Amino acid sequence: MKRTLLLSLTLIAAAAWFSACNQSAKTKEMVKKELIGTHKGKDVFLLTLTNKKGNIIKLTNFGARITWIEVPDRNGNKENVTFGFDTFESMIKGDPYFGSVVGRYANRIAKGKFTLDGVEYSLALNNGPNSLHGGPGGWHSAVWNTEDGGKSKVPTAVFTLKSPDMEEGYPGNMDINVVYTWTDNNEIVIDYTCTTDKKTVLNITNHAYFNLHGAGNGDILDHQMVIKASRFVPVDSTLIPTGELRPVEGTPFDFTTPHTVGERIGENYEQLLLGKGYDHTFVLDNKEEVDATVYEPVSGRLMEVITDQPGVQFYTGNFLNGRMIGHGGKPYNHRTGLCLETGHYPDSPNHPEFPSTLLNPGETFKSQTIYRFSVK
Ligand code: GLA
Repeated sequence: MKRTLLLSLTLIAAAAWFSACNQSAKTKEMVKKELIGTHKGKDVFLLTLTNKKGNIIKLTNFGARITWIEVPDRNGNKENVTFGFDTFESMIKGDPYFGSVVGRYANRIAKGKFTLDGVEYSLALNNGPNSLHGGPGGWHSAVWNTEDGGKSKVPTAVFTLKSPDMEEGYPGNMDINVVYTWTDNNEIVIDYTCTTDKKTVLNITNHAYFNLHGAGNGDILDHQMVIKASRFVPVDSTLIPTGELRPVEGTPFDFTTPHTVGERIGENYEQLLLGKGYDHTFVLDNKEEVDATVYEPVSGRLMEVITDQPGVQFYTGNFLNGRMIGHGGKPYNHRTGLCLETGHYPDSPNHPEFPSTLLNPGETFKSQTIYRFSVK
């Protein structure tokens, strides 16, 4: 009797052990971490996240970037739909922010100047007369720390960074934590958490370029867009907001109903001429769950964007010129990728009438953006 009990207990323990091993094998399979080089004295990793559907995304701690999103079309054929590079060497050469986290201030600050409590701060000018995307040494170019994703049941990548006081001209030591979760529903959930020890400004985003035909497979002019925004932010000739929030109604900026990217992009409308296409922040209505959708009718791929931020910069790859050769040796030509960069409006530190981008010591900035992929 006792022996039977002992045998069953042994069997139960063995089964539990096998299942635990299997579970940890599964956990390991979900996230693969490879060392691909060193940069600025730090290790650069490529993380491959596989969800239960067998779809994968790849990320790197260089700029906390998304570098690969492989999702099926309506016939199940998988293709990477975001811009990136195959080799470490081409990745670190510099690019227009492909897939990176952008900060401390995404988009432009006029003349690189802003004032906090009577103190004027000066930033490097890297975009004509303005400062763009946190400056030349912004967070896109930093080698972030790669943290352990913990016990999450879905594949995650966690990147952290310490941005020192006065880095690129911004006050305050800032701690930044970015968590990418790749759900079984093909959603990239990005959670940002930031704190500072001095009053500062913050506008953080992800700058992924998307082409739902597959990155490098032609232009994005046939992509059908919906942006749930009744107003947008007009800009001057240096792409700095004029201060106006203009109703989209009756303009080529009305994407409250579906329109392709290309339908009106060539119109003789002042804001399209200034932006060389769409390169504007849309003021999100924030009334429904989904804030923007992109549908590509040939593959049937659909991308939905969900954010808690007040705006989204819709950029149609107007400055791409084919000089960047990406995954598979494919050139990224003019308007072959589009960005939906969620965040605050450009130059908010100089526009008190815009939603505030101030962060104070003792406060924690938390924000979430989701890119969800499916087919229809
Ligand atoms: C943002 C800007 C664009 C351009 C790209 C990067 O989207 O608004 O004007 O600078 O980044 O090339």
